[in-house]
Amino acid sequence: MFPLTRTLSRRDVVLILIGALTMHFFTVVVPLGSRFSVVPGSHQLNDKPTVNKHLPQDNGDINTLLVPILPESTGESEGQGTTFRNMIFSSLSSLPETSIVEHVPGWTLFRDIYMANGTLLILTSSPASFPDSRYMTSTGLQAENTPESIALREPTLWNMDIVSPEDALQRWGNHPSTRRVWSVEGNTLLFNDPPQFLNHYYHFCAELMLGMWSIWTGAVYPEPPPPIHRAIFPHSSSEGWRDGPGFNGYFLRAAFPSLTAEVDIDWNDRVVATSKGIESGVHRAWHFPYLLLADRSAAFRGKLCGLQNQRTASESVDDLVARSRLDKRGSWWRSIKYAVWRFAGVTTDGDGDSFWSHALDENPPAGFEETEKIVITYLSRQSSRRRLIPKDHEDLVESLESLVQRKNAEITTGEKEWELNVVKAEEMAIDDQVRLAARTTILLGVHGNGLSHLILMPRTNVSAVIEIFYPGGFAHDYEWTTRALGMKHFGVWNDTYFTEGTTPPVYYPQGFQGSSIPAYGPNVADIIEKRIAGGLQ
Ligand SMILES: *[C@@H]1O[C@H](CO)[C@@H](O)[C@H](O)[C@H]1NC(C)=O
Ligand SMILES: *[C@@H]1O[C@H](CO)[C@@H](O)[C@H](O)[C@H]1NC(C)=O
Ligand SMILES: *[C@@H]1O[C@H](CO)[C@@H](O)[C@H](O)[C@H]1NC(C)=O
Repeated sequence: MFPLTRTLSRRDVVLILIGALTMHFFTVVVPLGSRFSVVPGSHQLNDKPTVNKHLPQDNGDINTLLVPILPESTGESEGQGTTFRNMIFSSLSSLPETSIVEHVPGWTLFRDIYMANGTLLILTSSPASFPDSRYMTSTGLQAENTPESIALREPTLWNMDIVSPEDALQRWGNHPSTRRVWSVEGNTLLFNDPPQFLNHYYHFCAELMLGMWSIWTGAVYPEPPPPIHRAIFPHSSSEGWRDGPGFNGYFLRAAFPSLTAEVDIDWNDRVVATSKGIESGVHRAWHFPYLLLADRSAAFRGKLCGLQNQRTASESVDDLVARSRLDKRGSWWRSIKYAVWRFAGVTTDGDGDSFWSHALDENPPAGFEETEKIVITYLSRQSSRRRLIPKDHEDLVESLESLVQRKNAEITTGEKEWELNVVKAEEMAIDDQVRLAARTTILLGVHGNGLSHLILMPRTNVSAVIEIFYPGGFAHDYEWTTRALGMKHFGVWNDTYFTEGTTPPVYYPQGFQGSSIPAYGPNVADIIEKRIAGGLQ
């Protein structure tokens, strides 16, 4: 057990008892997308319950606590609108109780949550209606796969706590004119992860951003996603969330040009501001009208991520797809993808009506996207540690070249031309990498970060990612992500392959990270040819 570093008050004891009872909680799922009041079931698709399967319910009525959509979200703040007075004294005249808009392990969208001294405070008169905090948060410490590290990441009451409406009034002031609660207006993302998983293109863009956007859009479905005003990285410095090649900064700015990022020292300002006065009895708190809390360790406590695929975004994507709040073809991701394409200068092919010219649409069209050509992009890792046997690399390139040559020789009118790109991503400008990904039909490479570009591929009727592993080896990173975006994944073990339905268990054999990975070129060329022809569906 983790140590509780303070003596237990009566409230704490009650809280622990409540914790023990949380096997019997029900959730209050509030549709963020409902501007209207109580219209039972109106936000549901196919009459599937919006009830979270991870949260056993003993109360079937989830529509008891409907709230209006953003941005009328700050409770009854003093005077409506942004008057000068309101901007300075942005304190609350009432203390709205906390509710949950959407929740899966590791991803929780709160309405009206509070923070003091670094502790997220759920203000409620019915604590039992909230999920166990270990499915929402953690200590945010560096993660190692050891029992000690796992135990150290279990949340304590310093990470998340409950405050009753009576306690809240007592702490922060009974009277609106002197109450010490300040609203951090707008919509906030709180990424509770250590830099370990932030300063990496895959984990940041293909996992954190993807998971965030899935819950953000799924929670409000079928309304368009509301704006996001800020992202807070409480455990990271400003360098901590940026990756070496610079994708994370590029991606965040391309997709969310107005978003403000706060890091550890900014968060600490808020922490200190609310803790300093406590000893002299002056409690203060911050109020977040809407806050999406993302926590990697909490996601790993979920069944999908923890037991099946180790993908934190899977808790959100797969659950929301199962509840018909996201489509399983990944169309919900298009608004982000198109924003990044536009930023990179991806151009339309003439008439201005190609699939991605809908980039500014609030609801991009579903269905397949089309490209002008069949484009095969082989991301060579021959300058990195994990790479192919040099001869196999050369033979692979030769197999691909002869495939493309043969196909282009066979072309009849109306058929698409084929194109092969053999590239070292690290030698290309980011813009060029994005532009290439945006026209790639088949993305091919040895298991590695470069394959993260799959999140920027168009989803055509034959799109696929081909990932070469050391024979016997497998990890879900790109496999799950490819499928989540409605595309086909093939894993290659030299002269064999596997795909959905035949994927092996996760395994990192000797040689997985090495420089002698075999790949039989004709096998890879054969997969590509069959896939483009409409086989291997
Ligand atoms: C603030 O939180 C820390 C733990 O994060 C705790 O050690 C400290 O005692 C708290 N301060 C007050 C005044 O409660
Ligand atoms: C890979 O497959 C080819 C073709 O079957 C075979 O000749 C070669 O020996 C294999 N390489 C390894 C390392 O198994
Ligand atoms: C994919 O769509 C194109 C038209 O956009 C069509 O020509 C092609 O036959 C389709 N391929 C498969 C395998 O369905």
